[in-house]
Amino acid sequence: MAQQQRKILVTSALPYANGSIHLGHLLEHIQTDIWTRFQKLRGHECYSVCADDAHGTPVMLKAQELGITPEEMVGQTRAEHHQDLLDFHVDYDNYYVTHSDENRELCENIYNRLNDAGYISKRTIEQLYDPEKEMFLPDRFVKGTCPKCGAEDQNGDSCDVCSATYSPTEVKNPRSVVSGATPVLRESEHYFFDLPQFKDMLEGWLNSGAIQAEMVNKLKEWFEGGLQQWDISRDAPYFGFEIPNAPGKYFYVWVDAPVGYMASFKNFCSQNNLDFDPFWEKGTDTELYHFIGKDITYFHCLFWPAMLEGAGYRTPTGVNVHGFVTVNGAKMSKSKGTFIKGRTFLEHLDPECLRYYYASKLNDAVSDIDLNFEDFVQKVNSDLVGKVVNIASRCAGFISKRYNATLSATAYDSALLEEFQQAADGIADAYENRRYNKAIRDIMALADKANQFIDAQAPWVTVKDEDKQQQTQDVCSLGIELFRLLMLYLKPVLPKLSEQAEAFLNTELVWSEINNPIFGQTINKFKAMLQRVDAKKVDALIEASKENLKPTEAKAGAPMVDENSPLAKDPISPEIQFDDFAKVDLRIAKIAKAEHVEGADKLLRLQLDLGGETRQVFAGIKSAYSPEELTGKMTVMVANLAPRKMRFGLSEGMVLAAGPGGSDLWVLEPDDGAQPGMRVK
Ligand code: 2FM
Ligand code: ZN
Repeated sequence: MAQQQRKILVTSALPYANGSIHLGHLLEHIQTDIWTRFQKLRGHECYSVCADDAHGTPVMLKAQELGITPEEMVGQTRAEHHQDLLDFHVDYDNYYVTHSDENRELCENIYNRLNDAGYISKRTIEQLYDPEKEMFLPDRFVKGTCPKCGAEDQNGDSCDVCSATYSPTEVKNPRSVVSGATPVLRESEHYFFDLPQFKDMLEGWLNSGAIQAEMVNKLKEWFEGGLQQWDISRDAPYFGFEIPNAPGKYFYVWVDAPVGYMASFKNFCSQNNLDFDPFWEKGTDTELYHFIGKDITYFHCLFWPAMLEGAGYRTPTGVNVHGFVTVNGAKMSKSKGTFIKGRTFLEHLDPECLRYYYASKLNDAVSDIDLNFEDFVQKVNSDLVGKVVNIASRCAGFISKRYNATLSATAYDSALLEEFQQAADGIADAYENRRYNKAIRDIMALADKANQFIDAQAPWVTVKDEDKQQQTQDVCSLGIELFRLLMLYLKPVLPKLSEQAEAFLNTELVWSEINNPIFGQTINKFKAMLQRVDAKKVDALIEASKENLKPTEAKAGAPMVDENSPLAKDPISPEIQFDDFAKVDLRIAKIAKAEHVEGADKLLRLQLDLGGETRQVFAGIKSAYSPEELTGKMTVMVANLAPRKMRFGLSEGMVLAAGPGGSDLWVLEPDDGAQPGMRVK
């Protein structure tokens, strides 16, 4: 029965513009992309949009550290993110950025409507302020002693030691992570969105089946705690959109981020002559789905639907929440090499392997998904190479060489073919309900049946018997038709492999053609479609993802080292490639200022003049030099090291000094001829 065509808009959470796409992001983008491709394959009018989430304090500060404007940084990151996603075959209809004219206009419009309807109020609040950096500090930019258990160096809003949560104003001995200064309390007028007015509406929406039952229970806990007014403004300096008629006040990033979904779609509509309104107006029969991680449910299931409702727009049809990614059973870790960036993965492995593995694990629950690399290698090799592609490779040669590349006219085993065709509805239902793991299980059960059929018929035996030529052609033809159906069912998950299959089968894989076998048609030459995953490549991926490598023990078999040599105590670090070395930008810097750091035994705070730019660096050379001795000397510095937040402030590089340590460390003398900013070769 022909289905009615649906109009669907799908989004993924917008990645922040100050970090790289990693395997955690990819779980969601792949989940969304599979769902979107499935809807398109079924003939629905489905669009997917995403964007970079450009605004907020962390983006602003990172751009400052890099010495570029936030606009420049966001432009670069957006392009990088988009390319990473495309290389995983995640193909949004539009990948935009929240710092756009469309978004500014929509945010202003929504705000004005909310304000006119009486949902916005103002009041003065007190917040911690960094007097050195002259900015209010978001909670995560304050550190100090936990007010509950006394543990030092805890976050401004929660304690890792006793798990207490508190306000940053309660933290003892607070300091600004940005400058190291002691924050002071300062008053400022803030704008609030009146969330409590939406209590009934939100309860109705949550009970409409828009989100998973397990999340509804979680959200009910928030209702029981009482809904609060939501602070939607931030003070300058802030990278964002200024609030209408409120100079120096900016929309909090979480206001304009979800509006960014609309803005990305609006931008798409204007480029493609599509009508925006039917997807956003109240009472529409179009569908709107957001795919998100469990950590941002609050924003998407409370603030966002309330904002939409208050401004006269439709609310989402569904918010699909997924869990986090763990790797080999544990949280992703930079030191273990399991915090893996998308780009690093692409340098070692085929992106479709990750798509397949995630699909085989994803369901409609909020539980975490474990990427176990042993299981990953085994599953990809056994399912895709050993089962699916194997069917084509076992049958194609005979058809090409013996039967003029032409398939038989009829099905050798019509019951088996029907079983494959009738599986379509169950597989579609599983995709539709985001139970991809069930779809994959069903498809692989069919692949097993196809292989058993070929094993039982043994065309490699019958082909030698002159009387069994028709049978051999029929068996291999059915094998290839079964392969067509398997690849069609897998098409949302494996778009590239499906393209290769389409080239081989000489036909497009479309859902409406499930019951139209390609019998009687000719096929093209079979080419190897997928390489087995080599476990060594996984090892190399993990190795390449390790950060903070420590010097290793001297290797067995390495040349003997004189016990008096410095190498005996401090062995040479693991070998690196020239490309790794070439990334390090070494420059001469003049030590413009050196000073003691309160509470630090070994560190001095240096202001380094790079000949046009000044950097603050904390260097562990207090045992060798007093601040007075250092001032005016030259040193070599790593100029392109990512800035690190240290207990005492931001360190924007690394100073190189030679010597065994302690009081024996040397930097360069001013008369050695080096000039600030010179590259060291
Ligand atoms: O949590 C995050 O990574 C946010 N950048 C997600 C924003 S989603 C949407 F609201 F824009
Ligand atoms: Zn504590």
